[in-house]
Amino acid sequence: MSDRKRLAHLVKATNQRAVIIDLVKQHGWTRGAEIGVLRGKTLFSVLDACPGLSMTGVDQWKVVPLREDENAETYVDFDMRALERDVALRAKGYGYRCIILKGDSVAMSKSVEKGSLDFVFLDGDHTEHGLKRDIAAWASKVRSGGMILGHDISWATVNRVVSAKYPDFQEFGEEVWGVVKK
Ligand SMILES: C[S@@+](CC[C@H](N)C(=O)[O-])C[C@H]1O[C@@H](n2cnc3c(N)ncnc32)[C@H](O)[C@@H]1O
Repeated sequence: MSDRKRLAHLVKATNQRAVIIDLVKQHGWTRGAEIGVLRGKTLFSVLDACPGLSMTGVDQWKVVPLREDENAETYVDFDMRALERDVALRAKGYGYRCIILKGDSVAMSKSVEKGSLDFVFLDGDHTEHGLKRDIAAWASKVRSGGMILGHDISWATVNRVVSAKYPDFQEFGEEVWGVVKK
């Protein structure tokens, strides 16, 4: 069954891009990463709106088997090869400002230096296990005083992980959650 049908009760049309753009401008951030790029809607909107910003976009662009985990996505509804190709092509237009890392988010994190980012936007695997491993891999890449951000805070799996790990997290609207890196 398609993710769209299975997870229809969760999926909302949100403008997370506007929230990230506001935060980047407000804080004057210059280095960020997005975990889970898909077709690049957020990645490229943020790069277009914030000329001083460089971004690393991470995605495995892979249809994965359905797992037992709550809120697991398979991406069966997407032509991942075509999306990967389109994103890679478009990314070239931004030169050094846009680096694409293709592969599992945790494996890809190993090539990013600790404390090198002003923010990370976690929007990859929305299962509890998936978000926990992304936080474990990516939070350390954000400098102290930067922000760990993510999407889909109303998803029960996301909410449980974020509430437990960061009890003082904020909601910025459009399903975006965030916490200042200590
Ligand atoms: C919700 S979509 C991202 C949407 C995008 N952030 C936006 O705002 O337009 C989630 C993406 O995460 C990717 N993803 C899921 N698990 C992943 C993993 N373990 N490693 C890398 N990418 C992953 C999927 O391939 C998918 O493209």
